Amino acid sequence: MSKLIPQPFIDELIDRADIVEVVGARVALKKAGASYKGLCPFHDEKTPSFTVSPDKGFYHCFGCHAGGNAIGFLMEHDHMSFPEAIETLAEMLGLEIPVERSDADRSENQGLLDALSEADRIYRQSLRESPEAIDYLKGRGIDGAVAKRFGIGYAPDAWDTVLRQLGRGEAQTTRLVRAGLVIANDAGRHYDRFRGRIMFPIRDRRGKVIGFGGRVLGDGEPKYLNSPETNLFHKGRALYGVYEAQRTPGRHDEIMVVEGYLDVVSLAQHGIEPVVATLGTATSAEHVRQLTRRHKRVVFCFDGDRAGRAAAWRALETALPYAGGEVELAFLLLPEGEDPDSLVRSRGADAFRDLQGRATPLSNFLIDELRQQVDLGSADGRSKVVALARPLLERLPAGVYRDLLTADLAGVVGLTADRLGTLLASPAQTRTRSQTPPHRKSTLVRKTITLALHFPSAAGSIGDIDGLDEVDQPGAGLLRSILEVSRGNPKITPAQLIERFRGDEEGRHLPRLASEVPLDDERAAPEVLRDSLERLVRDQRHKDAVRALKERALSGPTNHA
Ligand code: UTP
Ligand code: MN
Repeated sequence: MSKLIPQPFIDELIDRADIVEVVGARVALKKAGASYKGLCPFHDEKTPSFTVSPDKGFYHCFGCHAGGNAIGFLMEHDHMSFPEAIETLAEMLGLEIPVERSDADRSENQGLLDALSEADRIYRQSLRESPEAIDYLKGRGIDGAVAKRFGIGYAPDAWDTVLRQLGRGEAQTTRLVRAGLVIANDAGRHYDRFRGRIMFPIRDRRGKVIGFGGRVLGDGEPKYLNSPETNLFHKGRALYGVYEAQRTPGRHDEIMVVEGYLDVVSLAQHGIEPVVATLGTATSAEHVRQLTRRHKRVVFCFDGDRAGRAAAWRALETALPYAGGEVELAFLLLPEGEDPDSLVRSRGADAFRDLQGRATPLSNFLIDELRQQVDLGSADGRSKVVALARPLLERLPAGVYRDLLTADLAGVVGLTADRLGTLLASPAQTRTRSQTPPHRKSTLVRKTITLALHFPSAAGSIGDIDGLDEVDQPGAGLLRSILEVSRGNPKITPAQLIERFRGDEEGRHLPRLASEVPLDDERAAPEVLRDSLERLVRDQRHKDAVRALKERALSGPTNHA
């Protein structure tokens, strides 16, 4: 599938995104002159060396040399992929991403959506016609209104309910197979995937059905059957109930994540919303990212059995990079043998809300679990805690939250926070050090690139410089590319310029150069830049001349005589 985000749109995003807002939502910033300062989120520091420049659309750190534009910040700080960063910015700005998709992809996806929506209609109709299925839902405490809101349906116990109504002809049947509604066996015969099951349509945020989960009416196996992965449906991304959650009235500061379809529906029946469910898979980073982007508090609810605890711990590990900042992550482990549905039905909504409110914050859950894994009475045990905690703490974004958690943990193992900090940092330190770029000699090429990067309009206004093509120092190619891009795009900003070179081997140094302030007075930029370029050419010519002289001296005058 070819999905290209058009360059002009990326330019527009960077132009319109307020870097102070993007960074400020994740790092406490204070105004300092024309820019903003704060503690660098990419390395531990006590005095701020992290700056955000709204004019240039850059952030940079003088301490660890992290730097870049809003897209880069989201990729580095929130561990987003490039498309995710684009999506986030577009959403902040209320812009629709114009995706250049092939017509074939579009009609393929539309075909799947149509098939799923038609099947959805059939299942809902079948529920109305099946007293047995209606009784089952009633028996589980679900009334008609809630069933309707979640679009719950029924797949009759027959091999061809969907196939017969939607599978006219080979193309249509193939489409049903691709949508995961129909299965083709080895003999080439087709039959419905979902038979004799209560159907839960899984909708995306727009309300389009992208898949189904189906539960047997009685005790059959498997208890739940889900749609297979398709072009539209990815279990690691999708969450059951997002559309319904989005449409519940009121502020959605808080959301709860549970494990089952029926848990979501049953909690909604008791007025507990918004709630979503993972689809028989572990909580993924993508799930956490989606949730923390939209809600201030996310409660992960798991059954109180062994499997539930293990799943909760995996969710914690996955969620660590998203902890701290403005979002609160908490864990709710239900009493042994209960799930959200059984608990809300036996104890009522108020008791459940109370539990939800008292869910264990991520930090406490982490420390409690570590405490259970080792014997803190022994020195061995205490040092083991440190070893266990290290990889976990490393996954947390650097900052106040990590410091506080480290301090809490220090209390538990009976060390001072400083001492524990040192212990935790010691082996990691070498890695940090080798990651920080070696201090580079400030070459003329480097200075010139920095100038061109900071003042693209000056760079674009400079005409051809005779001899610049022959300059063969490292970085000269990048410099020429920057001049060329600036010339072709007179209004390009530094942040946009950086974006053009994302993924480019030489261009990967650009974000770092963003942290160097090349000139105090912008008006001097064209002149200083021209001067630097001319000096580069002169240096090159000088070098060439020296080399030629040396070669001549080596080969000796007699050879030419
Ligand atoms: P549970 O086994 O906990 O069922 O599965 P439940 O949600 O409590 O359902 P009821 O109350 O018995 O009806 C939790 C989730 O795990 C996935 C489903 O997404 C289910 O909602 N699951 C479970 C499957 O995908 N397949 C299965 O066979 C069982
Ligand atoms: Mn259940």
